[in-house]
Amino acid sequence: MEFSTKAGTPDRIKSGCVVVGVYADGKLSPAASLVDAAANGALTSAAKRDDLPVKRGAILMMTGVAGLATERVLVVGLGKRDELKTKGLAEATRAAVKALDASGAGSALFTLAEASIAGMSAADNVRTVILAAREALFRSDELKSQKEDAGSLTKIVFPVEKLEAPAIAASIAMATALANGCELTKRLGNLPPNICTPTYLADTAKQIAKDWDLKAEILDRKQMETLRMGSFLAVTKSSAQPPKLIVLTYSGGKSKEAPVVLVGKGITFDTGGISLKPGDSMDEMKYDMCGAGSVLGTLRAVAEMGLKINVVGVIPTCENMPGGDAARPGDVVTSMSGQTIEILNTDAEGRLILCDALTYSERFKPAAVIDIATLTGACVIALGHVNSGLFTQDDELATELLAASKTAGDAAWRMPIEDDYQEALKSNFADMANIGGRPGGSITAACFLSRYTKAYRWAHLDIAGTAWKSGANKGATGRPVPLLTAFLEARAA
Ligand code: BES
Ligand code: MN
Ligand code: ZN
Repeated sequence: MEFSTKAGTPDRIKSGCVVVGVYADGKLSPAASLVDAAANGALTSAAKRDDLPVKRGAILMMTGVAGLATERVLVVGLGKRDELKTKGLAEATRAAVKALDASGAGSALFTLAEASIAGMSAADNVRTVILAAREALFRSDELKSQKEDAGSLTKIVFPVEKLEAPAIAASIAMATALANGCELTKRLGNLPPNICTPTYLADTAKQIAKDWDLKAEILDRKQMETLRMGSFLAVTKSSAQPPKLIVLTYSGGKSKEAPVVLVGKGITFDTGGISLKPGDSMDEMKYDMCGAGSVLGTLRAVAEMGLKINVVGVIPTCENMPGGDAARPGDVVTSMSGQTIEILNTDAEGRLILCDALTYSERFKPAAVIDIATLTGACVIALGHVNSGLFTQDDELATELLAASKTAGDAAWRMPIEDDYQEALKSNFADMANIGGRPGGSITAACFLSRYTKAYRWAHLDIAGTAWKSGANKGATGRPVPLLTAFLEARAA
């Protein structure tokens, strides 16, 4: 899909279809009024017949309309004007784009992004429209021998006034970069675990480095042994797939500027290990690498945006498999930090690979470290599938991340993490246990990680409930790439 601008009014620019909005009370958007006037009141007549879509996301495709540079007009319901927010505009856009794609129109002149709609600027609306359009057209059919129908739509054009054209063009470039990042994250998440292995993630990092001029360094098992990553190595022990520690460096900022480090959980399949998971929807544990996927997607987005900031992605990636050589409940391992861990449940493996990656991250003398992980089922119980869980003792960092979450429309909720919860991790035989029992399970998991993050400012995002959707529309969401990218954009500014 190509997005561009064209100077002119929506009635005069040639395209396969002009897309206009109408509110629930029948009031036309400014662009719709203009189109209506040029088309001899075609929309007003349709309104008289009660044909205009009232509900948000409902559509009316009119063909053979005279007086315009195109014969197709797609009228899209925007719902109630005072209730139309960014989310509503995205909803209307998805409906419009799906209808366009099925219509035969190759290009569309899209007016739903005009200023004042949803109470936002045209540049903000263009971003919303692009992300929603890309989402509506996203398909996961690369492994189907019969591809889903390609659809007709290849071009969306935003009509602009000459003066605003550069700002809109910049907004298109930024939104496209973000959509590309989100799509990479979704694609990696959706790929099956026999294809998306630790090696595949490492190769993807190398490819990003090559395409966007980053530096990729891939550490193998030997190097992890040298670093004494005893915790990470315990998880990967009985997997036939070799583990990787991916370090992907983007240097968009000044050479001496401390980087933001993003650490992503990359369990390409989580069986639970010897503490085997029940069989129900175990396939969804292919999504246990979505933290890693979001780090790769964010770095791709940030690089394409050319943000003036330094970012390092650190991805510990392996499988969690049972087997004759697997870690046992009761094993005590020594992490890279020197702290010992009693593994009471091999299914609490995310924290075991993350703790060594967090210790490793000290070497970058980071401005801040954010880890992103599908860490706990308990977080899904606490927050459902709406908010990602944000854990940090650092109030300023929390404020920054929550602001980015708002800007991006990528919800996150701050969870408690005070020291009183640490008690649950007490072990009789090691410095700590790797589980804290069922109460506050997402908090004690965060507490475990906090023991490895004393050297820098740190926040943890538990995305177990938000990284993918189950059910009929099963698929990765690309979250929290929008949040992370907005956070880095704000820091770069
Ligand atoms: N990857 C899972 C967490 C998870 C479970 C995410 C379900 C999304 C949906 C993680 O490795 C895990 O198994 N966590 C355990 C921890 C427990 C053993 C303390 C969990 O949440 O049950
Ligand atoms: Mn697990
Ligand atoms: Zn896991």
